Amino acid sequence: MAKTQITFFCKNCGASSGKWIGKCPSCGEWNTYVEEVVHKEKAEFKKTWKKEGVTRTLKPVLIDEVERGNEQRIALQDGELSRVLGGGIVPGSVILIGGEPGIGKSTLMLQIALQFTNKKVLYISGEESDAQIKMRAERLPFSNPDCYLYTEVSTQKIGKALQELEPDIVIVDSIQTLQSELIDSTPGSISQIKETAGDLIRYAKESGTPVFLIGHITKDGTLAGPKLLEHMVDTVLQFEGDRHHVYRILRTTKNRFGSTSEIGIYEMQSGGLREVSNPSEILISQRDESLSGVSIAATIEGMRPLLIETQALVSTAVYGTPQRNSNGYDAKRLNMLLAILEKKCGLKMGMQDVFVNIAGGLRVEDPGIDLSIVAAIVSSYENVPIDSKICFIGEVGLSGEIRAVNRIEQRISEAEKLGFKTVYLSKFNKLPLEKNKITIVQVGKLEELLSNLFG
Ligand code: TYD
Ligand code: MG
Repeated sequence: MAKTQITFFCKNCGASSGKWIGKCPSCGEWNTYVEEVVHKEKAEFKKTWKKEGVTRTLKPVLIDEVERGNEQRIALQDGELSRVLGGGIVPGSVILIGGEPGIGKSTLMLQIALQFTNKKVLYISGEESDAQIKMRAERLPFSNPDCYLYTEVSTQKIGKALQELEPDIVIVDSIQTLQSELIDSTPGSISQIKETAGDLIRYAKESGTPVFLIGHITKDGTLAGPKLLEHMVDTVLQFEGDRHHVYRILRTTKNRFGSTSEIGIYEMQSGGLREVSNPSEILISQRDESLSGVSIAATIEGMRPLLIETQALVSTAVYGTPQRNSNGYDAKRLNMLLAILEKKCGLKMGMQDVFVNIAGGLRVEDPGIDLSIVAAIVSSYENVPIDSKICFIGEVGLSGEIRAVNRIEQRISEAEKLGFKTVYLSKFNKLPLEKNKITIVQVGKLEELLSNLFG
């Protein structure tokens, strides 16, 4: 008979203990221990997954003597994912991709599976039936005759299938649905995630087969399950965007084999996700006349310069407390900008409702967008449009000073490429040496900018 045992796990770091503890001794967090039932019986998945041509060191060796091997990255047809991963998939790597429900994780991974032409892909799903996945696949404009579907949640059965099929690439949708028969707790619990992810990671490392794990995220936007999961995998990708808009951003938050500052941009269409290779052109809405409350920011997302339209609406508050609402821009930062405008520029923001929106449903973290947000707010407040050929770069400091931002050359040249005539930026930014066609206006304080724009 199997021995049943109750164990307590820390939700934060995955540490375990025989009894409940208030403060986790390993990560120091309070109230993170939860109870789970664990069957202690070993272990069917634990096999070795040796494959020919993949060398694994079994004893200490000198680093100079290790052969790098011919482990070349697996090329991807999808240029955006390829860039985000640092140029293709590293054999034996485990990639975790997280995102809100309905954002398109399953669509993206199925699409990647179908894009391979000479690779055997196994798509394991614990969320949908074969027929549902087939229906989704029919909407996508790709086909891979060597793509297998397997709807199974038990890692022991998955292990057998992996052994028989010997796929080149494995996709698991999702890690929270997997279940190890050795553990009694429900799928998605900490001990299950630890065990099943551990099995798959060992499979990936030993067989040299890359594994993609789709992961759910919790309400506050972090990946569900123990933080430990993020430590265990090689790469963590975040798929984000506004479900009601068509654009999606794929970001890396961790990458052992590449930089974490790359992003991929997709557009959700009726036939799957389309790569967006020239994002600036679509993020600026087409308009003939200049409208008040609209301005363009030259930002950097990841490594890529991106011109984004920022919009603001300022109107007199009719009922009691004025409303502040922000879409795609940090709401606390918006309040800060409004306080600076009130204190330093004498605008009566206290009596106004203020709404801010970033076009396309994107969420922007680059502080260089501040200047454009301020310009849009004041443009709406004064009801004076800003010329559509002007764009803005700069972070705003608490005393109303305009601070320098990074990668100024890239931002300026992107603005120039898209036909902008004038760019406002901080006077503390060093300008690129080569002569630009675009007119550069350098300002040190918000007052200067506002008197320049609105007189
Ligand atoms: P899905 O991949 O199921 O999201 P997740 O796995 O992250 O929960 O994506 C679901 C949404 O994508 C759904 O609302 C329908 C939409 N969609 C399209 O717009 N076009 C398509 O071709 C497909 C397959 C889905
Ligand atoms: Mg899904």
